[in-house]
Amino acid sequence: MTKIQHYFLFFLIGFLVTGHTQGQIKSPIPEVETLLDKMTLEEKIGQLNLLTPGGGVATGAVVSKNVEAKIKAGQVGGLFGISGPDKVRMAQEMAVNHTRLKIPLLIGADVIHGYQTTYPIPLGLSCSWDMDLMEEAARMAAKEATADGIMWNFSPMVDIARDPRWGRIAEGAGEDPFLGSAIARAMVKGYQGLDLMAPNTMLACVKHLALYGASEAGRDYHSVDMSKIKMFNQYLPPYKAAVDAGVASVMSSFNDIDGIPASGNKWLLTELLRERWGFNGFAVSDYTSINEMVAHGLGDLQAVSSLAIKAGLDMDMVGEGFLTTLKKSVKEGKVTEAEITQACRRVLEAKYKAGLFDNPFRYLDPNRPKQDILTAENRTLARKLATRSFVLLKNHDQILPLNKKAKIALIGPLADSRNNMLGTWAPTGNPDLAITILEGFKDVAPGADIQYAKGANISNDEDFAKKVNVFGPRIQIDPKPANVLLAEAIETAKKADVVVVVVGEATEMSGEAASRTDISIPENQKKLIKALVDTGHPVAVVLMSGRPLTIPEEFELPIALLQVWHPGVEAGNAVADVVFGDYNPSGKLTATWPRNVGQIPVYHSVKNTGRPAPDEKFQKFTSNYLDAPNTPLFPFGYGLSYTTFKYSNLKLDKREIHQNESLKIQVEVKNTGNFDGEEVVQLYLRDVVRSITPPKRELKGFKKVFIKKGERKTVHLTLNHDDLKFYNGNLEFLSEPGAFEVFVGTDSNAALSRTFTLK
Ligand code: BGC
Repeated sequence: MTKIQHYFLFFLIGFLVTGHTQGQIKSPIPEVETLLDKMTLEEKIGQLNLLTPGGGVATGAVVSKNVEAKIKAGQVGGLFGISGPDKVRMAQEMAVNHTRLKIPLLIGADVIHGYQTTYPIPLGLSCSWDMDLMEEAARMAAKEATADGIMWNFSPMVDIARDPRWGRIAEGAGEDPFLGSAIARAMVKGYQGLDLMAPNTMLACVKHLALYGASEAGRDYHSVDMSKIKMFNQYLPPYKAAVDAGVASVMSSFNDIDGIPASGNKWLLTELLRERWGFNGFAVSDYTSINEMVAHGLGDLQAVSSLAIKAGLDMDMVGEGFLTTLKKSVKEGKVTEAEITQACRRVLEAKYKAGLFDNPFRYLDPNRPKQDILTAENRTLARKLATRSFVLLKNHDQILPLNKKAKIALIGPLADSRNNMLGTWAPTGNPDLAITILEGFKDVAPGADIQYAKGANISNDEDFAKKVNVFGPRIQIDPKPANVLLAEAIETAKKADVVVVVVGEATEMSGEAASRTDISIPENQKKLIKALVDTGHPVAVVLMSGRPLTIPEEFELPIALLQVWHPGVEAGNAVADVVFGDYNPSGKLTATWPRNVGQIPVYHSVKNTGRPAPDEKFQKFTSNYLDAPNTPLFPFGYGLSYTTFKYSNLKLDKREIHQNESLKIQVEVKNTGNFDGEEVVQLYLRDVVRSITPPKRELKGFKKVFIKKGERKTVHLTLNHDDLKFYNGNLEFLSEPGAFEVFVGTDSNAALSRTFTLK
């Protein structure tokens, strides 16, 4: 083949591939335009209405009423909270057979961490730093959800969160925009694939635009007030990455931005999202977030609904503000029909991209649920994903891994607690199918002698338990008095060689509307850990939570500490795989763990300030605290392994680079311990001088590598020119000449460093 033929073939393949990428179908679409020409104003408004018929998880005060009648009257564009080919077919038939224009419904769902094969909460999964695995996870979720008739997913949630008091930190990828962007791309790719019309791919919805993770004081739904520089550099990149990856839809957030709630914010939904980023999909509100602008103080329902449509919001989730007020607003000249047509166009284009005009029943094969949902293969993947999400925080005296023949006391309120394994936001999962830690231990180590005792309640506070138990009895207060539970545990521990205690948060102690001001382990569980350590037997703490916790006292104890988040349907098996050493833990934290709540907000890419504390030590009139160091308990990127890795020979291929050049970096990593293992090699960058104050260091690259014990590997990383760029005071994305410092290592405190100059 000649060079020209080769290029032609390359071009042709590229054309064919992108030609089939439905995310790339550009507006206007002739079929949609023809349909729009036939539609009345009422029919167009109907398409902007998204309802939930109940049966799903309602996350607000309102549940839709008279859904069937509204569908038949052409007043519904989409539904969520229904599933299964039969039910979805019934709904779809109402739309297609009873309405004048036969427009099919979009069927949505919150498939946040797996459909029925629930895998770890997103914050946990992000700790794998494994983009291929995350894409595979999303692909599996899409395959299962579409098998159940759902073609639109309210995921990925990419809100940067630096405040672990905020319960929804569990749903995202942590604190970092670089990592968060990579994960956003992987998830969109996994859900949407290359062909949105394929029966096993679905429309993704990036949420919550924007800045929801910066809710003041970590209180859910609270206000946000942030400089544009911070927004553009730290909080917006993951949403933009999803848009660049072709995400089909966007969900607006509950919070305000510069005084205007996201759902009515024209700067956000039109100027930024569409004009600056070139987004060509549709925007949906969050659950009743249009109506909530009334409580925010922006006017009555008619006023806020017109604000929303004029801002560029296309679909109204549950609130029916569009349905009940837009016609009046058009009559009164407050909204134009053209604005409604535009929103309707975007909703119809999404239906077209999903192939619904071609065949409204394309996701409704009655054989698929059995074939595709909760298969052995999917459960195997969920188990693998869980093992990759665990982070070994401490391993005193190499307590872990355990011998499979050991005499083990398995203690703790989460050791045999099936309905706390899935974690928050798993409305499509079934907690009854989850493997408990006790079951997993028995399965993976049949030769071990395992004795179980509960030891403590998750919390003894009945009031607190009531608030947590909204979706089920997650905190069950035992009829036995606390001192009896504790005494039984101590007795069990005394008879064993080693103690494993499973403690932490119940599922709904994190997640939506689950903010906490005290993020320590509940007092009675702390007491249990302490009492078990006092027996003198080795203790491994398996910690479950949906957020970083404050555990300075536990950290001081001579224990092993394995953070497992909420691991999903294969929880027990995965925990056992790691505890017994079948898999060597490799997870790295994606959100910093503070020593106490007073350090919050807490994150690695802090700025130097004008008065940095020397060597992080206390000195009067420098930036620090009287009662705690500035450093967190565990930094971003931190995580141990059963083996150890040694870094050396950091090299850059150039000392100077010019604009638009990239830099090649290499480092040697040796596995110096006794186990094969994986390591996440991390690259941080400091822009030494620039026109706006730079962070001390920022993550700009990473690679996960497997290294056999005793082996040494050369790891190659690249800094692309865009990695040197930032948004300056005029919000231009650029790099500025000068010195840069590169750090490479095992976490965000990486010490090996080299410098280079950008000319
Ligand atoms: C949440 C969204 C979710 C929606 C629909 C809201 O309460 O904020 O993340 O997609 O409910 O269930």
